Amino acid sequence: MLKGKVLEMLNEQMNREFFSWYLYLSAATYFNTLDLEGFEQWTRRQATEETTHAMKIYNYMLERNGEVVLSKIPAPTQKWNSPIEVIEAVYQHECELTGRINDIVRLTREVSDYTTEVFLHWFITEQREEEAMASRVLQKLKMIGNDMGGLLMLDAQVATVGQAPESAT
Ligand SMILES: [Fe+2]
Ligand SMILES: [Fe+2]
Repeated sequence: MLKGKVLEMLNEQMNREFFSWYLYLSAATYFNTLDLEGFEQWTRRQATEETTHAMKIYNYMLERNGEVVLSKIPAPTQKWNSPIEVIEAVYQHECELTGRINDIVRLTREVSDYTTEVFLHWFITEQREEEAMASRVLQKLKMIGNDMGGLLMLDAQVATVGQAPESAT
């Protein structure tokens, strides 16, 4: 049975994953206003993915008879000045989440909750990929600077980032 600090931290992490959904949704909304459809599609997809992360933790807590606490989801920033500002915020947020997940893993080791530790391995790998993806887009935005043509090219590229590959059947 899940209880104590591990359960508390898992509930907090579930809330942060829901906040990630909100943050990517705010990004998608901003990209919609700029008519950057590729960025909008990518961040919408990311938003949906974040809800699956939250639900993974939700399901895990239920499976182990832990009390689920659905606390308030903070509002994300909704006034953005540039695409680079949005992606910088997303990248920083992903890095912060990696740190939080590492904190929970550290605790599971301290209290010998190896079941939760193994459960969190999936998140460690996922965070590595998410950080890498946000970092790559951020670096490209920095290279592009104020070049509108470059931005439109990147918009076309990011439209398919993270999309599930087509079935071979
Ligand atoms: Fe996530
Ligand atoms: Fe994420």
